[in-house]
Amino acid sequence: MTASDPITELMDDHRLIEKVLAALDNRLATSAPGEFPGDFVEQALDFLVNFADGSHHYKEEEALFPALAERGVPVEGGPIGMMLYEHTIGRKCLAGIREHLPSARSGDEEAQARLRNYATEYTGLLRNHIWKEDNILFKMAAQALDTAAREKMAGEFNNESNPRVTSQLRARYVAFANSL
Ligand SMILES: [Fe+2]
Ligand SMILES: [Fe+2]
Repeated sequence: MTASDPITELMDDHRLIEKVLAALDNRLATSAPGEFPGDFVEQALDFLVNFADGSHHYKEEEALFPALAERGVPVEGGPIGMMLYEHTIGRKCLAGIREHLPSARSGDEEAQARLRNYATEYTGLLRNHIWKEDNILFKMAAQALDTAAREKMAGEFNNESNPRVTSQLRARYVAFANSL
């Protein structure tokens, strides 16, 4: 069985995440305060928590970054430290969206404004983060990781007994992103 290249898979994840970021920005920008898109924000939040963070960032943190560290790329500071820091900031934004979603859905305009601020911070952060990974870190990884390292990562990405990376989970969120 030939597994797909793990760096390609991470870049494919980025394209899916970008679709949801664009839809989230668009839906929040085009809805009036009285018609807050609560169902959509809940679906987008589910995607961002369980796929973008729970699966994609997980693959980066548990497979890619350690593989790079084994080849001498420092984890503290440098590009990996920056990526880890940005994942943490992103989690805080998602927690903020989750916190304000119930009140925002029931029409609380203050909660809607706070949620919009968290969402705007998140989408800006993630777009910039993805750009840095695609254009800097993943290019570094493409040079640093040999066939053995890539095969090890592919094995970790295709471990059907790990609930964060199952093909079922990925298929579900690919379908959501592609439905937008
Ligand atoms: Fe990342
Ligand atoms: Fe990423």
